[in-house]
Amino acid sequence: LKRLLYIAAFTLAVVIASPPMASKAGGEVFFERHWSRPVRIRGQAGLKEVLPGDCGVCHAEKLSDWSGSLHSRSTGPGLLSQVDASRWPGYALGCYRCHAPAIEQNEKLRTTDGYAGNPAFDPGLKAAGVSCAVCHVRHGVVNGPVRAGDAAGRPSQAALRAHPTRIEPGFSSSRLCAACHQLSGGFEPGGKPLVNTYAEWEASDYAARGVTCQNCHMPGRRHLFRGIHDPGTVRAGLEIKAVSLGPAALRLTVTNTGVGHEFPTYVTPLVVMRAFLVDASGDEIEGTRREEYIGRMVSSDLSREIYDTRLSPGEARTFEYRPGAAPARAAGVAVEVRVRPDEFYRAMFKSALSSGAYVDRGLMQKALERNRGSEYLLYREVFNNPLTSGRGG
Ligand code: HEC
Ligand code: HEC
Ligand code: HEC
Ligand code: HEC
Ligand code: HEC
Repeated sequence: LKRLLYIAAFTLAVVIASPPMASKAGGEVFFERHWSRPVRIRGQAGLKEVLPGDCGVCHAEKLSDWSGSLHSRSTGPGLLSQVDASRWPGYALGCYRCHAPAIEQNEKLRTTDGYAGNPAFDPGLKAAGVSCAVCHVRHGVVNGPVRAGDAAGRPSQAALRAHPTRIEPGFSSSRLCAACHQLSGGFEPGGKPLVNTYAEWEASDYAARGVTCQNCHMPGRRHLFRGIHDPGTVRAGLEIKAVSLGPAALRLTVTNTGVGHEFPTYVTPLVVMRAFLVDASGDEIEGTRREEYIGRMVSSDLSREIYDTRLSPGEARTFEYRPGAAPARAAGVAVEVRVRPDEFYRAMFKSALSSGAYVDRGLMQKALERNRGSEYLLYREVFNNPLTSGRGG
């Protein structure tokens, strides 16, 4: 069967890619064991009820936080419209490494001579995506972080009464997240891994100061995992300032003041800095719009980097707007910052739908609609400059 270029390319990127845990020093052994995929959630003994709803009976806040996060949707239409484990199991398993990494989530098993049906497959666990058990449960045992204020690193009696429990200091380390938020090898457009979040963080001042992924994405051990899709999180990570430079002209400055890696870290989002003239009723005057982009744009086959204008921690970008002669009806100048969290996939789904590169058309249309709806306005300001002097200065 004819496979499509970007899908094939993505498979390659994913299948060739090796996990980042190259060195085995110290605590590394835990991360290798914990994320040796496919991971096994259920065991001969121990906890059997491992769906998020089962954990939520006793951990209600964790369940409601996680349910609003993208981790709960990692086996949604975006993924399922592209993979068919029964027809192309090798391809599917490459994606499942991060989207559904448990043996109980995989329809097929790799065997010495190909692929076989998997008796441990559990559709409920697959649908739950990167669920509680994917991060916490191995062989029926709950793994969790050292409890606040407990130097000895022992499970609480209450926890032990509820389930077999192991304490693992690695839970509070950024390494835990690197298992899925870092690639090495495979395609490296522009000489950088396609997914490079852990390395970007490690190179930053945040790593040196011991500020982890969990500190920013799980404050107070909440399980919200908010990122580029949440305007509040993005706003809190940036400083945005616009100053008038005289009639019809302005300067916008966006500074990465609180994002612990490149802003944005993935190739998927696009941040648009935009300015245009408005008339007396505040409407945009056609032909006056200028834009600049913050993002890392790669070709749809992932082989080439087209540009990388992302902001490293601490870095600032300025965008100057000088439209030249302003039409007489111009009453002011507007400046905006817009975020399109799913730009890459929006473009990819659109082109896949027109070329037939999907395993389920209905699901891909659903994924495209969701992506279209995710754009938001992060910042907007209007300067009502007197424009009588005609030219931007
Ligand atoms: C019958 C109730 C119950 C169920 C079901 C349950 N837990 Fe717990 N769990 C507890 C109690 C009680 C504690 C200790 C107090 C606390 O931290 O809330 C605990 C503690 C924990 C801890 C921290 C370890 C520690 O020593 O404090 C983790 C992590 C955890 N549970 C994860 C899970 C996961 C994941 C599931 C589902 C697979 C789950 N629990 C299901 C009751 C439960
Ligand atoms: C088992 C793999 C896996 C692990 C481990 C993992 N993630 Fe994720 N994460 C994903 C996947 C897959 C998505 C995207 C889900 C989707 O949208 O389909 C995601 C999405 C996210 C997002 C949302 C990004 C956005 O676009 O808004 C954040 C934030 C995040 N993860 C943070 C973390 C942090 C922090 C850790 C470590 C505590 C972590 N993740 C561990 C797989 C993982
Ligand atoms: C190294 C871990 C990793 C692998 C392997 C991986 N993904 Fe993802 N994927 C992520 C993370 C993290 C996100 C969230 C950030 C983003 O939007 O890029 C994501 C987001 C997505 C999204 C957009 C969100 C959604 O659910 O609609 C789609 C679609 C997707 N991945 C499909 C795939 C497919 C298909 C494969 C296999 C060819 C794959 N992924 C392999 C980590 C991974
Ligand atoms: C992406 C991985 C991931 C997922 C999914 C996840 N957790 Fe956690 N969980 C963590 C990490 C990491 C910590 C420790 C955070 C830290 O040390 O700051 C933690 C801590 C906990 C704790 C101890 C928290 C405390 O307040 O002391 C409990 C209980 C827990 N998780 C339950 C759950 C439940 C229930 C779910 C599903 C509804 C879930 N987790 C989903 C990674 C995850
Ligand atoms: C100092 C705080 C901070 C630290 C540390 C941090 N992040 Fe973020 N992260 C943010 C903010 C703020 C955003 C929203 C802006 C953005 O999307 O870049 C974000 C966004 C994200 C996203 C959304 C996707 C995207 O393209 O930006 C993911 C995924 C993510 N972080 C994962 C991680 C992982 C994994 C780590 C650890 C290796 C980490 N973050 C460390 C603050 C932090």
